[in-house]
Amino acid sequence: MYKNIVLIGFMGTGKSVVGKELAKKLKMEFVEMDKEIEHQERMKIKDIFEKFGEKYFRDKETELVKKISDKEGIVISTGGGVVLRKENMEALRKKGIIVCLWASPENILKRIKETNERPLLNVADPLKKIKKMLAQRQKYYEKADISIHTDGYSPLQIVKEIIKKLKEYEP
Ligand code: S3P
Repeated sequence: MYKNIVLIGFMGTGKSVVGKELAKKLKMEFVEMDKEIEHQERMKIKDIFEKFGEKYFRDKETELVKKISDKEGIVISTGGGVVLRKENMEALRKKGIIVCLWASPENILKRIKETNERPLLNVADPLKKIKKMLAQRQKYYEKADISIHTDGYSPLQIVKEIIKKLKEYEP
């Protein structure tokens, strides 16, 4: 049994799809944080942002991080902004191996264009915003134990690559 596996990375890097497949392959429980928050609040993330603002969402995110960080043997897919609070990453690290998924701004744009579910990217020039936010967040994403580049790879190939790299961390 692995420790918890925590997927971090920018919006649209595939954390949810990859996390689900990874959990299936490793027969581990899967927790998708955004879905969990939506379920808890009975509201879509974009509505939470609209109605209560980003700080409210971030507080809910931190509450959930604290709740799930004590579990063991789960795959956690986080929201892209979880890295912004030091306390989140400290809690997730306690029992977790941190895996960061990376993608180019152009690919991120392609992936997020299919929905309007990302309140932070509902702007006139999303590519510019993606580049700016990536530059601001890079230093946090770089702290992951394992980094995976996803451009040009299928979710299953990415899962394989993660499992290969996780071998170094096997108990
Ligand atoms: C956010 C990422 C989103 C979601 C919210 C904020 C961010 O999750 O938590 O819209 O700040 O990067 P995904 O990374 O799953 O899109």
